[in-house]
Amino acid sequence: MTTEKDRVLIFDTTLRDGEQSPGATMSHNEKLEIAELLDGMGVDIIEAGFPIASEGDFQAVSEIAGRSENAVICGLARAKIGDIDRCWEAVRHAERPRIHTFIGTSPLHRAIPDLTRDEMAERIHETVTHARNLCDNVQWSPMDATRTEWDYLTRVVEIAIKAGAGTINIPDTVGYTAPVESADLIRRLIAEVPGASDVVFATHCHNDLGMATANSLAAVEGGARQIECTINGLGERAGNTALEEVVMALKVRGDIMPYATGIDTTKITHISRRVATVSGFAVQPNKAIVGKNAFAHESGIHQDGMLKNAETFEIMRPEDVGLKGTDIVMGKHSGRAALRSKLQELGYEFADNQLNDLFVRYKALADRKKEVFEDDLIALARDQEAGEIHDRLQIKSLRVVCGTEGPQTADLVLSVDGRELRATAQGNGPVDATFAAVSELFPHGAKLQLYDVQAVTEGTDAQATVHVRLEEDGRIATGSAAEADTVVASAKAYVNALNRLLLRREKSDPDADVKRVRYKDSA
Ligand code: KIV
Ligand code: ZN
Repeated sequence: MTTEKDRVLIFDTTLRDGEQSPGATMSHNEKLEIAELLDGMGVDIIEAGFPIASEGDFQAVSEIAGRSENAVICGLARAKIGDIDRCWEAVRHAERPRIHTFIGTSPLHRAIPDLTRDEMAERIHETVTHARNLCDNVQWSPMDATRTEWDYLTRVVEIAIKAGAGTINIPDTVGYTAPVESADLIRRLIAEVPGASDVVFATHCHNDLGMATANSLAAVEGGARQIECTINGLGERAGNTALEEVVMALKVRGDIMPYATGIDTTKITHISRRVATVSGFAVQPNKAIVGKNAFAHESGIHQDGMLKNAETFEIMRPEDVGLKGTDIVMGKHSGRAALRSKLQELGYEFADNQLNDLFVRYKALADRKKEVFEDDLIALARDQEAGEIHDRLQIKSLRVVCGTEGPQTADLVLSVDGRELRATAQGNGPVDATFAAVSELFPHGAKLQLYDVQAVTEGTDAQATVHVRLEEDGRIATGSAAEADTVVASAKAYVNALNRLLLRREKSDPDADVKRVRYKDSA
């Protein structure tokens, strides 16, 4: 049995630290949708964004604050009065607002604003006091805490507590710490800093050495009662602690970690899929809890064991994370209503006209394939969503000639703002030829940063999902598409990314650079 004292708060920062990872930018509506899902699954605190970073961040945080029903809504602010005021403007609409202010306290980070220890201590006192005068609920973070000198860390934590912070977050900003240190650090802070027992200690880990989940759980052992995490472990570099991992670890190993969270774990799979879709960051198949293979059993011995007793190879039930047992779902005789209902089950909602388009593509796929799996449907649904975002460029037809002797040739008809243009280009392989044809018809300076192909289901008739990431003048756009033909999927993903890039160009955000330099300029 767990007691109230053992409750661990879940602080989700998918929309702030997660969205900060290059290429994971979400649209306004996507952020609202993810916030609603987080709120509905029982997340205690949602860090909805960084209001000073851009007008878009500000608008998203304000709207999420106004809509949230249960969770505390938090915004991030540097240790600057202007940042804190802007943050308060955005979160004040929430039933339960929180201001989260931070400053880099390690020697490396102190050197950036070039503040002495005393000057920084004074800045912390001023800014936390200011935040507390605006909002009852203030969280403070010494960024890069795990590389901050012990005497200075205890000094600044005490200042922040005295100035009124109710939550002290201890970030392992660069994913450097190890579990034994993580537990020890929190334990010693609670034991040695005056006033520490009156506040909640939080742990915020990055995954650079693959230890974020272990470090977060160790911090809880040391006395932390708030874990900061993101869905799918989304986040800068190697990402943040994955929400689904810490929550399921606490649930499954309650025998040795008697701590409760308020998360409805059956909602995990759905939100994981939505975050993967809207961020464009696909989940690796062997990812714990939410990977496609996390509950798949292939080897004969495993299958045999599973049939006799699922506990032989499963420490949690697929249903616990919201997975339905069956894999084969639809065939070529299935109708529109079945398709709609199956998509709803998978977390996709489409208006009638969208469903009609999707149904045509579903039928074409079902005609080509013997069986249509859930993953095929998810790929189709994602493709439909991606294609609907912005479509100034559209592929009308593509014919590729391949042979054992190169080069390959692509003959492409592309609609650009409604005008149909045709080009034939050669390349080193069919995808290269196709991309060259696109560039010929729509010249651009974007660099291809990522090209990734995954087979969605098994078999030579499987759909391929292609992800493309483009970069132009610091702006990053991702595109994806799924098709039974890998080259067609590649062309569509490329064009999808270009469409997104065009939109980003149009809406070019004057404050966009703040996001990229904000850590460097943390004071
Ligand atoms: O990793 C980090 O230090 C952060 C802080 C802003 C809390 O994300
Ligand atoms: Zn972080």
